[in-house]
Amino acid sequence: MKFTLTVNGHDRALDLDPRTSLLDALRDHLDLTGSKKGCDHGQCGACTILVNGRRINSCLTLAAMHDGDEITTIEGLGTPNALSPLQAAFVAHDGYQCGYCTPGQICSATALLDEVKAGWPSHASADLLTAPALSEAEISERMSGNLCRCSAYPNIVDAITEVGEKAR
Ligand code: FES
Ligand code: FES
Repeated sequence: MKFTLTVNGHDRALDLDPRTSLLDALRDHLDLTGSKKGCDHGQCGACTILVNGRRINSCLTLAAMHDGDEITTIEGLGTPNALSPLQAAFVAHDGYQCGYCTPGQICSATALLDEVKAGWPSHASADLLTAPALSEAEISERMSGNLCRCSAYPNIVDAITEVGEKAR
């Protein structure tokens, strides 16, 4: 099946088996290996990317369903010489150990900050009318789809808090 994905600002034409997941299309056919395959079942968050600005598990969706969508992977958020604010904060706060979950954590956190800024409530929010605070409880709840087997959670929360506070 022929279709085109816009990945990190570039149109990428593909001709793939329609059963190919978006994660496999990125990793195996576009050489974007930043997004990781932890479980391939929507349970770990290692494959989290942004599609039209919203975070999704790329292992749970078919690539062919995203013809024309704007896709951002960890490679599109920053580069080694120009880290995104969250990438820099994860480094500064030691928000990782092995790093396998980190691309998904950072993509997820990028969308999290946009969701909080837009006032979207979560299960941890005090009510539905007040702008959500960037508390530890809010961040933990909103990042609950991203597991870290190294348990770097406190440092991940610190990194997100720092960037979120600066953006306010
Ligand atoms: S690899 Fe997609 S959620 Fe685990
Ligand atoms: S840093 Fe190792 S899994 Fe999170």
